[in-house]
Amino acid sequence: MTSVGIDAIEIRTGKLVLDLPNTFAPVKGEDPEKYTKGLGLYTSSFPDVYEDIVTMGANAAKQLMDRKGLTPADIGRIDVATESAFDNSKPVSTYIAGCLEQVYDEDFRHANKGERKFACIAGTQSLDDAYNWIKAGRNRGRAALVIATDTALYERGDPGEATQGAGAVAMLIDEDPDLVELSTEQGYGSMDETDFLKPNQQFPSVDGKRSMQVYLARMREALEDYESVAGRTHPDDFEYIPFHTPFPGMVRKAALLGFRHMSRGTEIEDDLASEIGRQPREDDFETWDDYEEAIRAYMDDLKTTEQYRDWYARVIEPTLDISSRVGNWYTGSVHIARLSALKAAAEEGKEMTGKKLLVGSYGSGAQAEIHAETVQETWLDEIEAVDVDSQLADRTEISFDDYELIHDVHNHEKEIEVEEFTQPEGEFVFTGWGRMNERRYEYVE
Ligand code: HMG
Repeated sequence: MTSVGIDAIEIRTGKLVLDLPNTFAPVKGEDPEKYTKGLGLYTSSFPDVYEDIVTMGANAAKQLMDRKGLTPADIGRIDVATESAFDNSKPVSTYIAGCLEQVYDEDFRHANKGERKFACIAGTQSLDDAYNWIKAGRNRGRAALVIATDTALYERGDPGEATQGAGAVAMLIDEDPDLVELSTEQGYGSMDETDFLKPNQQFPSVDGKRSMQVYLARMREALEDYESVAGRTHPDDFEYIPFHTPFPGMVRKAALLGFRHMSRGTEIEDDLASEIGRQPREDDFETWDDYEEAIRAYMDDLKTTEQYRDWYARVIEPTLDISSRVGNWYTGSVHIARLSALKAAAEEGKEMTGKKLLVGSYGSGAQAEIHAETVQETWLDEIEAVDVDSQLADRTEISFDDYELIHDVHNHEKEIEVEEFTQPEGEFVFTGWGRMNERRYEYVE
């Protein structure tokens, strides 16, 4: 059986950074600990004046192609996942291919290009499309480029403003991958929901609290569906569990639910019984509400146990580092959680070959997907080559006034002229609009 998965990853962060507890919270009259302790966020990335989903996606893709020594002829498919598109017809992948063609001799004439939409889960759906294309043997030996790129901006004053971010993740999907192999088994939890949507508008309409409940419900269904094909899961089956991370506090909730589900009926539940009792069973309760209340009480106790805290520190916490420093990257978010975990493993000198990850993706509207990944022998070289720390460290810090300007610059309904905060170098930049209102780009040496 051909092994198919992620061969390489590169990211591109927006080049500006906003300090949430120290710059944003005071102006909002909020306690900085809402960010650091509650949401688990320290800083967010924002795009400079000349950056957008195309430049970030194209810059990440170029980094990846250059590092892997690829030319356009090696790529048979370019799928872009985004929920920040500015065109209802022409896909962002054509703009990104156009950018890349400015710097490579060949073109992507024979590559299939598309754009995937299903809120944040579209990045993982694009991975699936690439996986299926290769497994079906239609790739002619070529690899697929999957690019998840978003500017996650909310209306000024919306509670979601606390969780913004901007960045792109480029992934190469190929046979005999160097990083992780994807499992054939998948589980889905999918229902028609109106928790977060953008009905022909740039900024989302969000029911924040409800979106969190929907996330948890769909994730639980996806896990049960995954188990129906892959067999019962146990908390110790996986070295890391990267989740879609709109903000780390959300993952804290999902991880607790996941641990309770996976440890039910296992020696972990037995070991914890003398300390916090056994998990409530539905049959022992007269009403669903009573059962739910008992589950909530059990989980409140569970999260204080040493066993749970150790597991969380080992399996979940390492997935959150990049996210806590860049905010929500929507379609790219779960992919930076995986990267964050593997980066932590590399820094700790952990041997990861053959180890499993359980990856939980989510998109509002709403759908969750769960699959497993197996870390490949060459993972360390791949992870050590990814440029994360210098990109994050090189971001230019903005004041609250600057933040207001940059939010307006990227607001499609406003037309304002603002000086760029940074100087572009060796990257694609947005240069303005063409005759048919298309966006135009060039490469700056
Ligand atoms: P909010 O009203 O700004 O914040 O909304 P809050 O008052 O609920 O506080 C947030 C947390 O900080 C709470 O923790 C507080 O208790 C805590 P919790 O009770 O939930 O565990 N807190 C503090 N902790 C310590 N010290 C303090 C303190 N103050 C408060 N002093 C909300 C937060 C997330 C709702 C808002 O930012 C929002 O609407 N965000 C956008 C929606 C979102 O991210 N939803 C997540 C699930 S849906 C999803 O992931 C999909 C998405 O990525 C889109 C897509 O799929 O395309 C969004």
